Amino acid sequence: MTPLLARTGQALGLAMAFGLAASSAQAAGLTREHANFATLEDGTSVERFVLRNGHGMQASILTYGATLQSLLVPDKAGKLADVVLGFDDVKGYQEHGDVYFGATIGRFGNRLAKGQFSLDGKQYQVPVNDGPNALHGGPKGFDKHVWKARETDEKGWVGVTLSYHSADGEMGFPGNLNVEVEYSLNEDNVLRIRYKATTDRSTVLNLTNHSYFNLAGAGEGDILNQVATLYAAKYTPIDSTLIPTGELAPVAGTPLDFTRPVAFGKHIRDDHEQLKFAEPKQGGFDFNWVLDSAGDLGKLAADVMDPGSGRRLQLYTTEPGVQLYTGNFLKGFTGKGGKTYPHWGAFTLETQHYPDAPNQPNFPSTRLDPKHTYTQTTLFKFSAQ
Ligand code: BGC
Repeated sequence: MTPLLARTGQALGLAMAFGLAASSAQAAGLTREHANFATLEDGTSVERFVLRNGHGMQASILTYGATLQSLLVPDKAGKLADVVLGFDDVKGYQEHGDVYFGATIGRFGNRLAKGQFSLDGKQYQVPVNDGPNALHGGPKGFDKHVWKARETDEKGWVGVTLSYHSADGEMGFPGNLNVEVEYSLNEDNVLRIRYKATTDRSTVLNLTNHSYFNLAGAGEGDILNQVATLYAAKYTPIDSTLIPTGELAPVAGTPLDFTRPVAFGKHIRDDHEQLKFAEPKQGGFDFNWVLDSAGDLGKLAADVMDPGSGRRLQLYTTEPGVQLYTGNFLKGFTGKGGKTYPHWGAFTLETQHYPDAPNQPNFPSTRLDPKHTYTQTTLFKFSAQ
């Protein structure tokens, strides 16, 4: 037993001795521990929180970037594998900041055309970091800051909440923004991510998590055999700089039609203009699908299965869109445990409002005003068959 677990155990023992109820989370086999992961050059400590359930599922979360660093999930035989890409040390995250492995993305997920938007007649400029555009909140987004952490539980869940204060003007965005991201785990093998944010001036906000999944295990080849269903009849087509044209186009008759289960590899190399925009050489998926669930957390948004291991991931979200990205720019990274992450070595399911929404009058609004609270809930439910 690690000293930290021992301490949790002692605390529980003390709580019981004093007649305080042990939380049902702990009674159900849910545990949490945390320890120093790294110390940055300026002396800031980066912590890692580890959440576990009674089925062996384990989520590790770093305060650096509020990042999901690893996620152990059982296969059909109960064998655990880490199903998300990441690094063993903070240096990996710092040196490869442009892949956003597992990170919390803010203030604005995906692209803002030319890094610009206007609000109430005033023009704002976010520094560009992706050709002519701003990607994932600009060059120093939420993924490159160290967040504060506190332990949070509710009945049946064990969690950690990370918080960050983004000052007025940071990366060009208006408003002092207080943001919280809570990761929690339950006994149904659900990893839940909840977001909350408030501002003191009108602003725009589009938060997401940028985990790269490989249900066979991170570094176990590519994901071309994994079979996906996206409950989305439409998507938002892009131009050659990956900015939406503003249309909501039907997926029917295109390689983006995942309304019935289809392997990622089946159409990834198709000669289709959108796939070439996403990855000019070999093609790839990197699009925002318009979810039929339309914000209803009770409706399945996406379902991915790995025939080899039997692992299955079902996605539920309050967001209207999801960015499915197939690691088109991964070119043989060395990640955790020295494993190699090949081209198409993972897929992301970034639940979000649509890219470039502040510049697209037909898209659901990403505006956040003072006295309102931004919220988002996304569930990643794992099973094996
Ligand atoms: C974007 C991709 C980008 C990737 C990693 C995704 O969310 O849609 O275009 O390459 O993030 O930066």
